[in-house]
Amino acid sequence: MRVPCRIVAEVLLKLKEEIKPGVTTLYLDAMAERLTRKHKAVPAFKGYSGYPFSLCCSVNEQVVHGMPNNAPLIAGDIISIDFGAVFDGFYGDAAITVPVGNVSQAADKLIRVTEESLYKAIEKATTENRLFDISNVVQVHAESNGFSVVRDFVGHGIGHNLHESPQVPNFGRAKQGIRLKAGMVLAIEPMINEKGPAVKILEDGWTATTIDGGLSAHFEHTVAITENGPDILSML
Ligand code: CO
Repeated sequence: MRVPCRIVAEVLLKLKEEIKPGVTTLYLDAMAERLTRKHKAVPAFKGYSGYPFSLCCSVNEQVVHGMPNNAPLIAGDIISIDFGAVFDGFYGDAAITVPVGNVSQAADKLIRVTEESLYKAIEKATTENRLFDISNVVQVHAESNGFSVVRDFVGHGIGHNLHESPQVPNFGRAKQGIRLKAGMVLAIEPMINEKGPAVKILEDGWTATTIDGGLSAHFEHTVAITENGPDILSML
């Protein structure tokens, strides 16, 4: 799984460098697919449940599963890019949220707190802990900063399939849930909203947005649990 995860990390890093005002999300999608195929890997999302693109691009109030389009990014936007790859039957999955040019203080804080909540969650991915220790630390960090946790989407086990058990919610009670064991691999993915937690799906059948128009941020890593602690596979 290190191979597909490293490819995902490299692709996201290259896409991040391209994100600036004027760039379209369709351009980012094409770039993600080209870079992935160069590594002899296959984009994981394309064709998954009929999803038509390689990349998910969720701008501003879009939470997840936004579809690439022709609209240029604008300074002040925030964009979440979520990408998966398959290599030799194994999956990798990761996401980042990136500011487009200068963004508001609120947007900046949302991005920072969401990324912090991911790394706090990853620290909990050890054999001493239970699953909802991960969930709880995300919820506590987000809510103590005045934000809310999306409940309609969750992280997941990952391996021979993109989505495996267990589900990894971003809210829950510490010391509850299954015991974490060495060898488990989880895609941990906090989705944090500036205002309320509620989301709706647009008519395209995919794009999830906040119902109140508040901003949303998303960070994800594929993380292996080992006897020596968490191993972030999707980090270069
Ligand atoms: Co995922």
